[in-house]
Amino acid sequence: MAELKSFIDSNGERYIKELKHFLSYPSISTNPENKKDVLECAEYLKEHMVSIGMKNAKVYPTNGHPVVYSEWLEAGSDKPTVLIYGHYDVQPVDPIELWTSPPFEADIRGENIFARGSADDKGQVFIHLKAIEAHLSQNKSLPVNIKLLIEGEEEIGSINLGDFIREHTELLKCDVVVVSDTSMFSKELPALGYALRGLCYMQIDVTGPNRDLHSGQYGGAVENPINALAVMISKMKDADGKILIDGFYDDVAPLSKEEKDNFDKLPFDDTEYAKGLEVDELAGEKGYSTLERLWSRPTLDCNGIWGGFTGEGAKTVLPSKASAKISMRLVPNQDPDKIAQLFVDFVKKIAPKSVKVDVYGQHHGKPWISPIESKWNQAAIRALKTGFGKEPVFMREGGSIPIVFTLEECLKAPTVLLGFGLPDENAHSPDEHLNLNNFQNGIQTSAAFYDELAGVK
Ligand code: BES
Ligand code: MN
Ligand code: MN
Repeated sequence: MAELKSFIDSNGERYIKELKHFLSYPSISTNPENKKDVLECAEYLKEHMVSIGMKNAKVYPTNGHPVVYSEWLEAGSDKPTVLIYGHYDVQPVDPIELWTSPPFEADIRGENIFARGSADDKGQVFIHLKAIEAHLSQNKSLPVNIKLLIEGEEEIGSINLGDFIREHTELLKCDVVVVSDTSMFSKELPALGYALRGLCYMQIDVTGPNRDLHSGQYGGAVENPINALAVMISKMKDADGKILIDGFYDDVAPLSKEEKDNFDKLPFDDTEYAKGLEVDELAGEKGYSTLERLWSRPTLDCNGIWGGFTGEGAKTVLPSKASAKISMRLVPNQDPDKIAQLFVDFVKKIAPKSVKVDVYGQHHGKPWISPIESKWNQAAIRALKTGFGKEPVFMREGGSIPIVFTLEECLKAPTVLLGFGLPDENAHSPDEHLNLNNFQNGIQTSAAFYDELAGVK
């Protein structure tokens, strides 16, 4: 194991050079014009898996972007089979003018590598590829059986992966699922993630008069859809940040005293956090700490709102239409379908008769939580300690990876979240980056994790 460690240490520069290449593919899953880039990225990934010694590597087409799969199953049937899930697709880059260096030409500044996908999730996928490569090149074998499932549609809600999993349960059969697509607690603190929030994403379309109207000729006589929409949104929460949708909190599991104490012990400072975001004050549901609000409370946020005239100057118009996208982060045991129905009912209840209101869902994901004390999580804790030389903390995640629920349900295998990103590495925004020390320690952790898993059965 000491040899493996020094091998990984001495290959850091090569790893970065190779990661730069992976990061050069503009694999933006939501843009139709990047379809070919997404495919080329999948092909590269498959070739890279072959080059590190993975077997049966294949690019599986789907109705959308392809899934990349490979395996190495020679550890023997007495050893666990580990399915590593990640995604090679990335978010769009706009606003592009706010990037310090081009998003698909990885640039190293200080301790960080800057590029779209560096933290979410190509860098973290690459961590596993290099840990596998280290074992296969140094020991000619892996301590466990490994299957790699890297998809190209995570950022658009894993639209086709659910079907792929259901159609390939035998291929994907495993004892444990490992996901590296989350964060550490902070630069100094490695963490075991044990919960994800769910998601319910809705759209509201409001239609008023049958055409845009002169706001002088008609203003005061008919409803303005933008005003009506704004009033409806304002009715969704009270001044204390409590969500007012009937039944919304019915299934929210309360936080245990033990978990709350654990949150309170973590080194988190509201003032520092606010400073990092350049806001004068934090906000949210009254009566809960910031970490509680981020990890264990549901939210309702407007993600986009449009309608009427938004160009330069002034146009006196009473618009015919207005729309908003509203998402709710959910916590155990809220069910996204049920919440969607409650949302629809609530909007219908408060909609004024003077406008027509359409409300419908986009994509949903269930919240997820796992027991810290499971043997798989305990193995991860030991590996994090080896990789970072430090005892990890336990954290929940505010974000969502809806497919985790599906993987567990279909494969009947528990999931371990082994995240190597940082919360402030600008995932989904300009100047996304990954800390290279965490990248390197992540490879050490993953390599040690496979060793730890070999002892678990
Ligand atoms: N990697 C993130 C999810 C994440 C980030 C979890 C940080 C925990 C901490 C993932 O790529 C993502 O962006 N998920 C979306 C889900 C959506 C597209 C269905 C999210 O959370 O908004
Ligand atoms: Mn991700
Ligand atoms: Mn993401």
